[in-house]
Formats: sequence, C-alpha cells, structure tokens
Amino acid sequence: MRLNVFIIILTAGFCAYSCRDKQSPSGTPPPEGMVEVVSSDANLFRIISQTQPYRNYTLFPHADSVTAGSLNGSTAHRPLVRVSMNALALDALQSGRYAAPFPDRSIIVKKIKDDDGATTLLAVMYKDRNNPLAGNGWLWAEFYPNGATFISMTQRGAGCTGCHALEMGPQHDFVRTFERQR
Ligand code: HEC
Repeated sequence: MRLNVFIIILTAGFCAYSCRDKQSPSGTPPPEGMVEVVSSDANLFRIISQTQPYRNYTLFPHADSVTAGSLNGSTAHRPLVRVSMNALALDALQSGRYAAPFPDRSIIVKKIKDDDGATTLLAVMYKDRNNPLAGNGWLWAEFYPNGATFISMTQRGAGCTGCHALEMGPQHDFVRTFERQR
C-alpha cells in the first residue's frame, strides 16, 4: 500500500516536471503537418533557429553577400548586412528576381555584423498575412544572436514598415534588398 502511494507521488512529480517543461516560453513544436501560428518572439526565434535554421538559408540572389550602406534608409542596420531566405521564399522568385508577393511562411533574415564580421543582430521578416501582429503582411522582429529580443514582433513593425515602404519597397512586397540586385 505504501509503495503504491509512493509510486503515485513519483508519477505526479514527474508529470509536473515534464508539463512545466512543455510550457517553456518557446513552447514545443506543433505535430508534423500542422501549420504553426506564430504568436510570440520566442516562437519566432525558435522557428529561425531550430525548425528552419537561418544558417541553412540561401543568400539573396544577385546581391553582394555582405554589404554596407548606400540605399535610401540603409542607415538602419550598420555597418554590414548579409541577407538570406528560406526555401519557400526562394521559390517565389523567378530566376532570382522579384516575380510575385511572397507566400505565407516565407522567411527573410538579415544578419547585422560589426566591422570584425561578428553578428550583432538578426532582423527577421516572416510572411503571415492573417496574423494579427503582421504589418504589411509580415511579422517584424530583431533578435540578439542568443535569442533575446531586441525589437518585438508585437510592435507590428511600427519602426520598420515606414522604411521598407520607401523607394521600390511597395513594388517588391516591402523587401528592399531587390534594389541591391545586380
Ligand atoms: C531606416 C530604414 C529602415 C528601417 C527603420 C528598417 N529597415 Fe530593414 N532594411 C532597410 C533597407 C534599406 C534594407 C535593404 C538592405 C540594406 O540596405 O540594409 C533592409 C533590409 C531588411 C531585411 C532583409 C529583407 C529586405 O527587405 O531586403 C530585413 C529582414 C529587415 N530589413 C528587417 C527589418 C526590421 C525587422 C525592422 C524593424 C525592427 C527594419 N528592418 C527596419 C531599411 C530599414
């Protein structure tokens, strides 16, 4: 009898431990095939670091891999930037050029590097037109490389969309690197 009680307590304790783990800020990935609703910065960072790691993205075609300054508004991210995109975003291009608006779940990441080449920030655009946190159809956020939030997507791109609507931005689904293509 005592042994039974002991086992029940042990099981309950284990469950409390693993349940708490599941409620961690980054949450657990959804079952395969389920479309994820991106609802927090931790959620978005987990996508770009684990579910679809940005290190595997393709460099923005026909643009210098690392570049500095010169575009109207490119003072935002200094001194060097490196822009890459996930496979879904790449598929939306035709011969590497802009063809049509990006489909939902397209991801574009801009690494911001210091003069020594070390990454200081990751600026992220995640296409999710029906997300209540979207601005101009995208989620906008900036993270430190360790995942801490620098600019939260809950701001709905308040500090981002103005600049991304400059020049050719509106004709390119608010993606400004097309203006850097050779
Ligand atoms: C002062 C203008 C300005 C502001 C503000 C700005 N951006 Fe940008 N952003 C640019 C320009 C210009 C580019 C093109 C690459 C370059 O020249 O740096 C760019 C490129 C990007 C890219 C690569 C995709 C693309 O559009 O080419 C991402 C991702 C990005 N920005 C995210 C953000 C986020 C997130 C914010 C807000 C937190 C933000 N940007 C605010 C000007 C701006």
